[in-house]
Amino acid sequence: MDGALLQGRVALITGSGRGMGRAHAALLAQHGADVVVHDIVPERVAESAAIVRQHGRRVMEAVENVADPAAMAALVARVEAELGPIAILVNNAGIGADRAVTEAIDEAMFDRMFDVHVKGTFFTTRSVLPGMKSLGGGAIVNISSIWGMVGHHFGSTYCAAKAAVLGFTKSWAKELAPHRITVNAIAPGGVTSPMAIEKDGIDAVRERMARVPLGRWAEPEEIAHAVLYLVSPQAGFITGQVLSLNGGDTIVGI
Ligand SMILES: NC(=O)c1ccc[n+]([C@@H]2O[C@H](COP(=O)([O-])OP(=O)(O)OC[C@H]3O[C@@H](n4cnc5c(N)ncnc54)[C@H](O)[C@@H]3O)[C@@H](O)[C@H]2O)c1
Repeated sequence: MDGALLQGRVALITGSGRGMGRAHAALLAQHGADVVVHDIVPERVAESAAIVRQHGRRVMEAVENVADPAAMAALVARVEAELGPIAILVNNAGIGADRAVTEAIDEAMFDRMFDVHVKGTFFTTRSVLPGMKSLGGGAIVNISSIWGMVGHHFGSTYCAAKAAVLGFTKSWAKELAPHRITVNAIAPGGVTSPMAIEKDGIDAVRERMARVPLGRWAEPEEIAHAVLYLVSPQAGFITGQVLSLNGGDTIVGI
């Protein structure tokens, strides 16, 4: 893969203020994309944008709540006016599982989980599609989770929301194929982003790492390379698939 691979393509990566999203933004810029760095936390946007700018591409900074459809529609309109239609969308913004049993999950917690992951993914994609179709093709990558595939004993709403993301992926792959738009999902296992470490602490993370067959978690950059491949022209015949980077933690399917 080279610096011109994604040249002339505009990429929106939601939640790219830190963690995996930042790694995706930096790698896509390194390979030639113009990048919209988006997050709900302004300082994170500024920090990521400074890193992404080092690759010499156009970078737009956007502070919006991914769960607010009107705000995201307005953002997409701004991007189209300043950079052009979006060719690459990575629906990455997310919040960690509540680490709570079902009786402890109230309506506000339920809504927050579904607003960010389900509403955010749906309405951001909906806003991007007219522009992407006008380009005659594009690539969407939805970030799900291994927990959306196999469930977990705490955080049922997170697992269900991430499973919904897989439902969108498969449906949109069929719906958008005539427009030459590919739609795939990545379902990571543990990744050493701030999310899990903030939620559970480093000792719990180390314990969970030891149970992974490869004996560790992924670095955000390893997930970014999978995103890069899925949005590259070389992956143009891959759509509706779920790629789980999990170190052998869960091996399913035939
Ligand atoms: N870390 C893991 O082990 C892991 C595993 C599987 C899946 N995931 C998923 O990967 C994605 C990235 O997670 P990460 O580990 O990099 O986490 P992270 O917390 O480091 O980054 C997520 C970013 O999303 C932003 N965000 C949260 N809510 C938002 C909102 N309403 N609007 C806009 N931005 C918002 C946060 O501010 C943050 O910068 C998430 O969808 C997460 O669920 C993470």
